[in-house]
Amino acid sequence: MYKTATKVTAPVAELTPTPSEPVLVWREIGAGACGIVYSEPVSTTTVTTPTKRSSCAALKLSRHSPHDLYHDYRCHVGIASSLQVSRATSREAATLLASLRLPSPLNFVHAGDNTWWAARSRNYELPFPLQERVRLEIGGSDHGDDSSIGSAAVGRSQRDGALPAVLISTRIPPLPQRAHAYLINAYCAPHLVDRAHADGTNGDALARVYLGRGRRYESRDGEGRQAPRRFFTLRNFGLSVAKLEDLLLKMNGVTKEGAADVVRHLATTMGAALAVMHSVAKLDARDVEFVLGGSSLGERAAVSMNDIAATAKSLASSQLNARSDPPGTASTALTQSGMAFYLLDFNQCRHIGRDNTAVDTAVDAFFVNDPYYPRPPCRSDSSTDGEYDEERKLWDAFVDGYLGLCSAMTHSEAGMWPGAKFIEQCERRLCHGS
Ligand SMILES: Nc1ncnc2c1ncn2[C@@H]1O[C@H](COP(=O)(O)OP(=O)(O)O)[C@@H](O)[C@H]1O
Ligand SMILES: [Mg+2]
Repeated sequence: MYKTATKVTAPVAELTPTPSEPVLVWREIGAGACGIVYSEPVSTTTVTTPTKRSSCAALKLSRHSPHDLYHDYRCHVGIASSLQVSRATSREAATLLASLRLPSPLNFVHAGDNTWWAARSRNYELPFPLQERVRLEIGGSDHGDDSSIGSAAVGRSQRDGALPAVLISTRIPPLPQRAHAYLINAYCAPHLVDRAHADGTNGDALARVYLGRGRRYESRDGEGRQAPRRFFTLRNFGLSVAKLEDLLLKMNGVTKEGAADVVRHLATTMGAALAVMHSVAKLDARDVEFVLGGSSLGERAAVSMNDIAATAKSLASSQLNARSDPPGTASTALTQSGMAFYLLDFNQCRHIGRDNTAVDTAVDAFFVNDPYYPRPPCRSDSSTDGEYDEERKLWDAFVDGYLGLCSAMTHSEAGMWPGAKFIEQCERRLCHGS
């Protein structure tokens, strides 16, 4: 059940920071159908230990349904603890998952929790029109009419009057500056390059890892610069296999073979992550995202004391990101690039049991997702031998991770998941259309 909103009436003066307090600005860093995501810098007065000023939490505000966002949070916590259990259960699972990071889920604020918003609005500068919305709600104003708030998507979408629900997690650090500068120079239409470098939102760059877009995709759709458009953004920039290899080459100075090794390593990690979601978390992983972001830490402490207390109860989340580097040259090359591999966005995940429909549901979700996962290669396609070989290697690497994780968990309840059947059905669906 969701909390009923309590109207907290605070004098407007209380919402204004006193001159001695720092004003910390919320900034929008991402948006999707379910939520709008803001970064919230950490106040040195609200953390238990001193932390870097660059530390940030990510706050996802519900756009329409606080229930969907709550579901997101529950799945997020479930996946966090499933990763922890898998790593603790088997050394092999820990190795397979070593390069995967998950933003730590920290807290959930229910829609209409005006007490939370009152505290938040004190030292923070919220973006307009959210700020106005909070002022009207919390300031006890009689302006019940939303029309003065403009076309805000956030804050007026849930039931009348309720401030949005908030899912708080650690922020994924953006790609290093060198990576985003390279991506702009390489792929932005020439007439937009200067504007793209100057655009501060490109500093929030994350790149989606589309291992299902092999070279065949590039040769059909044309490699290289974006077709002329009016707009270029690095928020959720899509990296096909070729673009990913090029980025790795630029970041590391590694050989072409070295970059291909990193790409296969990501495929194996993706397979292992999907197997954990299916077998341990019992979720179909629908619409989850896999991205490259920055590797710099520091955001782990990016929470208020209340948030820490709330999370400590449910899981020791900090352990998720506090691992030693995995062995192997591919994972070392990834680490040296200043980039790291993250899993996020769980609001569309559906529970899968162990009945006959479970594998079908998981296979549907596999194909519904953006093309993050490598695709099973099919000889009958019009691909060249080189393209087929590359797809085969990537798919094999993914399957190694998926089945490797399943067999590592054989002796736990997760061992009941029919992983081999899932892989067979994916191959059959794509290659034989059944
Ligand atoms: N913890 C985070 N750190 C940094 N960026 C994030 C974080 N969570 C989400 N984002 C960004 O915000 C976008 C929207 O968030 P997401 O969870 O995908 O919302 P939706 O469910 O609406 O798609 C993501 O694609 C990503 O770019
Ligand atoms: Mg999303």
